[in-house]
Amino acid sequence: MAFPAEQPRMTHRPRRLRRTPALRRLVAQTRLHPADFILPAFVREGLTEPAPISSMPGVVQHTEQTLLEAAEEARDLGLGGIMLFGIPAERDATGSAGLDPEGILNRSIRAVKDRVGEELPVMSDVCLDEFTDHGHCGVLDAEGGVDNDATLELYARMAVVQAQSGADVVAPSGMMDGQVAVIRRSLDDAGFKHVPILAYAAKYASAFYGPFREAVDSQLTGDRRQYQMDAPNRTEALREVQLDLDEGADMVMVKPAGAYLDILSDVAQLSDVPVSAYQVSGEYAMIEAAAANGWVDRRGVVLESLLAVRRAGATNVLTYYAAEVARWLREEN
Ligand code: PBG
Repeated sequence: MAFPAEQPRMTHRPRRLRRTPALRRLVAQTRLHPADFILPAFVREGLTEPAPISSMPGVVQHTEQTLLEAAEEARDLGLGGIMLFGIPAERDATGSAGLDPEGILNRSIRAVKDRVGEELPVMSDVCLDEFTDHGHCGVLDAEGGVDNDATLELYARMAVVQAQSGADVVAPSGMMDGQVAVIRRSLDDAGFKHVPILAYAAKYASAFYGPFREAVDSQLTGDRRQYQMDAPNRTEALREVQLDLDEGADMVMVKPAGAYLDILSDVAQLSDVPVSAYQVSGEYAMIEAAAANGWVDRRGVVLESLLAVRRAGATNVLTYYAAEVARWLREEN
C-alpha cells in the first residue's frame, strides 16, 4: 500500500508540551520538595563509631553523637522530619527498654529535640520489636502468639514516654487492633492532646523489610503474618485506614511503597488526612544493588521511584534517600 500522500491533520499533538525542559516543568503535575521527605534514622546504644549496615550501603546505625549530626543536617536541608528507631543494648520479653525514659530511644528523642528545636519534627516508632528478645512487635501469650490486648497497654505507655521525651509525632507501627485508640486516649490523659499520631495503617507483612532486620539487629525468627496485612488484599487496607481514622489517627501510612502503589492510590482517595508512604529497606537495597552493578542510573531511579510514590498520592515519603535527595533538589534550584 502506498504511503498516503496527504497526512491527516492532527489537532492534538501531546508532544507540543514536551518540547523543552521549561515547558515540561510548566506542566509537571508532581514535584519533589525537601519537606516531602522524612529520614528514618537508627541509633544504637553503646556504639562508639557509626556501624555500617551491609545490606543498606550508605546507611548506618548511629552513635548517640552522630545521630545529632544527622538530625542537624536534616534540619538544615529542610526535611519534613526524622523518624527515630532505637536499638538497645539489652532486650527482654516485654521490651522494657522501650518504655524506660532513660532507654536509648527516649534518651535520643530528648537529645535530638534539644539540638534541633522546633525546626525539624521529631517522630518516634511506637513498637516493641527492637526491644523484645523474641523480636515480635508485642508481648507473647502462652502459645507464643502476639497478645494484642496486653500489647496495647505497653504501646500506650510507650507513646506517653516518647511524648514526655519530646517527640513531636508518635508513629505506632505494630499493627495491633485498637492501637491508635489507646494511644490517643493515653496521650490526652497525660496532657499531650497536641501530639499527633502517624498511624502505620496499612502495613503489609513484606519481604521488603529484610535489610531493616539487620539494621535493628532483629531477634525475630518467625514472621509477622498474624498481625501485619496479607499482600493479596486490597480493600482490607481501606478498612484498616478507616478504623485508624475513626480511632483518631492524624496521618496514615502505607508501607511498603513501591510494590503497593495501588493501595497508596486507594488510600489517598479515601483519606481526608495526610498520607505517608514508606520506601522501605528492601526497596533501598534493590536500587543500591542494581546501581552498584551499573545496571541502572542511580540518581534517575531514585528520583523516579520517589516521584511515583508522590504521584500515587503520598503527601510525604519516608525514605533512606531523604537527605541525599534534598541535596540534589537544592543543586537543581
Ligand atoms: C517495626 C518496623 C519495621 C519497619 C519499620 N518499623 C519492621 C517490620 O515491621 O518488620 C521496616 C522498615 C524498613 O524495612 O525499612 N518497628
